[in-house]
Amino acid sequence: MTKQHRITLLPGDGIGPEIIAVAVEVLEAIAQKHELKFSFTEALIGGAAIDATGEPLPEETLTACRHSDAVLLAAIGGYKWDNLPRHQRPETGLLGMRAGLGLFANLRPATILPQLINASSLKPEVVAGVDIMVVRELTGGIYFGQPRGVFTTETGEQRGVNTMAYSVSEIDRIAKVGFETAQKRSGKLCSVDKANVLDVSQLWRDRVTAMAENYRNVELSHLYVDNAVMQLVRAPKQFDTIVTGNLFGDILSDAAAMLTGSIGMLPSASLGEAGMPGVYEPVHGSAPDIAGQDQANPLAQVLSAAMMLRYSLNEPDAATEIETAVNRVLDQGYRTGDIMSPGMKAIGCKEMGQVLLAALSE
Ligand code: IPM
Ligand code: MG
Repeated sequence: MTKQHRITLLPGDGIGPEIIAVAVEVLEAIAQKHELKFSFTEALIGGAAIDATGEPLPEETLTACRHSDAVLLAAIGGYKWDNLPRHQRPETGLLGMRAGLGLFANLRPATILPQLINASSLKPEVVAGVDIMVVRELTGGIYFGQPRGVFTTETGEQRGVNTMAYSVSEIDRIAKVGFETAQKRSGKLCSVDKANVLDVSQLWRDRVTAMAENYRNVELSHLYVDNAVMQLVRAPKQFDTIVTGNLFGDILSDAAAMLTGSIGMLPSASLGEAGMPGVYEPVHGSAPDIAGQDQANPLAQVLSAAMMLRYSLNEPDAATEIETAVNRVLDQGYRTGDIMSPGMKAIGCKEMGQVLLAALSE
């Protein structure tokens, strides 16, 4: 019997519609080969939703996501919406979706592909073999803590406030994802915090240390966030799995991404409690400067679709096949502008889709 998977597509803004179109073509091709059936529902988020409805995350979008098995998101944001009040910004839609679907665990792999080693700004011997998974807490910490806002003090001065807060249950559930991810990989987990300064980080470190008792086969270490970023660019191969809070994970995952040469190659998964759909999206943004010009690199989006097949739809063979096709087109020398190097064949977003389809049918 053909299995039916319900997928909500959120193309969003900028290059989003172009790259998600490629991912859908790839999914349709893989469906034919593996006798899968996808039903796609498209919904609005970000600036596109603001233009159409006045808000960045219409209720229908959240409802569509909740009724699907998985969500494939492209990217949100653009200059056009940067000066709107915060509740109408594209980013608020993204954060609302993370909260609304309870997506507390964000998995961001940074794997260096041998074909792209020269695209990295670091020396090849420093980055060759890098394979890191950043597990970022996504629905707590300073992104969501209360109180927040810009207040006027008694002296009439304005004062901006955000609060970094984690409760034990929030720390424990993300630490569990960190330990379990490490167990499935090389068994090394590094927890990143700022326990030398922040009380919230001391609690984080105490809990993660206590939980290590239940994961004796995982080698746990701790780093302060400033040192962690330095170590990432100094000697990235010392890392396997990193677990950290929302803000530190935002920063560390961009740094880890850049080790690989192009943020245009990296997928991510955001996962919640069992039964809730996962959201799969590229780590990169909406790149408004190249939107609509057929220049975008669709590979992170395509690899996000592969992650979706693996983590939410339980179709690991289909996922591997997509990843193999991506490797093949890189071996064949096809490159979008962001990963171009001398001697390679420069192509656009649509053509990258075509060569992927050809690689899938080989
Ligand atoms: C990310 C982005 C978002 C974040 C922004 C767009 C709200 O930088 O997914 O890393 O800060 O989480
Ligand atoms: Mg970020």
